[in-house]
Amino acid sequence: MPPALSAEQIREANTRYHDVAADHYDAKWGIDFGPVGRGQVLAKVDKALGRRADGWARSLEIGAGTGYFSLNLMRAGKIAHATCSDISPGMLATLQANARRLGLDVQIERVDAERLPFADSSFDLVLGHAVLHHIPDLERAFDEFARVLAPGGTILFAGEPSRYGDRLARMPKRAAVALAPLWRLALGAQPAPTGAASDAALEGVVDVHAFAPGELERAARGAGFAEVRISGEELLASWFGWTNRTLEASAAPEDVPWLWRQYAYRGYLLLQGVDRRLLESRLPAAIFYNLMIAARKPRA
Ligand SMILES: C[S@@+](CC[C@H](N)C(=O)[O-])C[C@H]1O[C@@H](n2cnc3c(N)ncnc32)[C@H](O)[C@@H]1O
Repeated sequence: MPPALSAEQIREANTRYHDVAADHYDAKWGIDFGPVGRGQVLAKVDKALGRRADGWARSLEIGAGTGYFSLNLMRAGKIAHATCSDISPGMLATLQANARRLGLDVQIERVDAERLPFADSSFDLVLGHAVLHHIPDLERAFDEFARVLAPGGTILFAGEPSRYGDRLARMPKRAAVALAPLWRLALGAQPAPTGAASDAALEGVVDVHAFAPGELERAARGAGFAEVRISGEELLASWFGWTNRTLEASAAPEDVPWLWRQYAYRGYLLLQGVDRRLLESRLPAAIFYNLMIAARKPRA
């Protein structure tokens, strides 16, 4: 077993990994700032809240990456003033470029989620997507979220890997690893360059948690949050998505045909719809690949 890394080493690995990922991040994850991306983000926010979102005056995004959540929410008119924060300068540079291209004015801050350089009660919404699982000391981070939120304010985090959902997704991932040589042969694709393998190795270092729903709930309640709501999303979509991403990661990116990428993207969106309409309201949150949490800071 490799030796456990210190919190500082995990933060450093996260910065390095995401700095390298920043340029191709939007293309890799199909991040979109048009109607499709906006629809996805609004659907996630409404699902996490359990109602249609009203909108917020001042938001702080943690681990904002290239801006997927904040920029789409601004374009949807749900956030008036957005502060986007991240530990990776590379991701923030891409976010800045995305915001400029979209004509959006956002405040950008390089910060670690556990040490927020903002005054108490500065925001009405603290949000994030796919970031909690990278944070070494969650208790400390949730305390910070509570401190910078105004009384009555909301936290909302989506896209967090669920422990059981992750275990279930290992089966299609393993199948894809076994199938990859045949798949590359069929597509005439060369194997991925060796750097990609070290990228994948770093992935095991930057992902420090996969959550059971109760753990997320305890982290929020421990920091004094109330009205905690946990939900799950993506089951079929995640199996399909991970199979395709694992296959794609095994090949030189320029050898993966456009038609294949279209099939993978459209199929994923289609199955997201199936999960949403048929499965999410019927099955326990724990088995879905992604967990979401919304909660409120009490007024008194
Ligand atoms: C998986 S990416 C998600 C990015 C974006 N939220 C999205 O959904 O596209 C995780 C982001 O969290 C950031 N991050 C990792 N550890 C962090 C920490 N301790 N404090 C703040 N941000 C962190 C990374 O740099 C990265 O941009």
